[in-house]
Amino acid sequence: MTNPLWTLTLHGGAGGITRDVLTAEQDSAARRGLSAALAAGSQVLAADGTALDAVAAAVAVLEDDPPFNAGRGAVLTREGNISLDAAIMAGDRRAGAVAGVTATRNPVTLARAVMDEGTHVFLAGEGADAFSLVHGLEQAGEAWFVTPERRRQLAELQAAGAGAFDVDMKYGTVGAVARDVQGHVAAATSTGGVTGKRWGRIGDSPVIGAGTWADEGCAVSCTGSGETFLRIGVAHAIAARVRHLGEDAGTAAQAVLDEVVALGGTGGIIVVTLDGNTATRFSTKGMYRGHASSAAAPRVAIYGDE
Ligand code: GLY
Repeated sequence: MTNPLWTLTLHGGAGGITRDVLTAEQDSAARRGLSAALAAGSQVLAADGTALDAVAAAVAVLEDDPPFNAGRGAVLTREGNISLDAAIMAGDRRAGAVAGVTATRNPVTLARAVMDEGTHVFLAGEGADAFSLVHGLEQAGEAWFVTPERRRQLAELQAAGAGAFDVDMKYGTVGAVARDVQGHVAAATSTGGVTGKRWGRIGDSPVIGAGTWADEGCAVSCTGSGETFLRIGVAHAIAARVRHLGEDAGTAAQAVLDEVVALGGTGGIIVVTLDGNTATRFSTKGMYRGHASSAAAPRVAIYGDE
C-alpha cells in the first residue's frame, strides 16, 4: 500500500475516560474540538503547507477550546492561576519551548516564536511572557483562560484537604504530529499541567525530548504523568528506537509506553515516522485523539474500544 502524501495525528489528553464518565454533551464537545483541530491542520497540509505550520494550527485550535487542558480551559495552579507550557519541534532539529507562561493566548505560537527567533530554545516564566510582548503575540487574561469548570475542579481538590504534594493527576494535554508532502515531520504539545500544581512545577510537555520531539526519523507528542515521562525522556527514547533499531512507530511507542507503566506512570503517545506511518498508543482507558491524511477521511475517537 502506498503511504499517504501527508498525515496528521492529534491527542487531547489521556486518562480514565469511559462512556459512563463523560456526559453526552462532554463527548460531543470533545469530538467537535478534535474535528476542528484536524480540519485546521489538514487544511495546511492539503495546501502543501509544512508539517510545522500544521501542528501549530491544530494545537492552537485545541488551546482555544475549553474542554481541553491547554490555553483557554487550562487547569489551575494551587493559587488559582494559570501557568501554561508548550513546545514545538521540526524534524530538522529546530525547536522552541515555553514554561509557566501566563498571558499569551496561544502558548504554541509563543513556542514557535522562540524557535523562529532562533537564539534560545526554552524560555520560562516572566521572561517568556516578556518575549511574547516584545514579539507582538496576542495576549489574553483571566477572563479568557479561566473557566468555571476549572475553578470547580480546584475547589474540589482544596475541599478534599489536599496536602502540599497532592495534585489532581488528570491529563488533558493536547498535541499533534504531522508529516507534510515534502516529507518533513513536526510535533507540538501544549498543556496547563496538573490541577493544584505549585512551586513552578513543569511537566514533560515543554521539555524537548520528554513530551515533545522531532528528528530525521519521526515526530512524537505525549500526554500523561509528566513526572514519569520526564524521567524516561519518552519522546526521545521513541525516536532513538526508530532511528537506531529501525523499529516502526507502533513498536517503538509501545515499548517506551511499557517503560512508563513499569515506572508507575500512565498516559498516551502519538508518533509519525518520516515515511508517513503513524501510531497512537495509550495505557489509560481512553484518549482524546484524531487522525487524518491525504488517503483517509478524518476520524476522531475517545474510548479505548473505538
Ligand atoms: N503531561 C503533562 C504534564 O504532566 O504536565
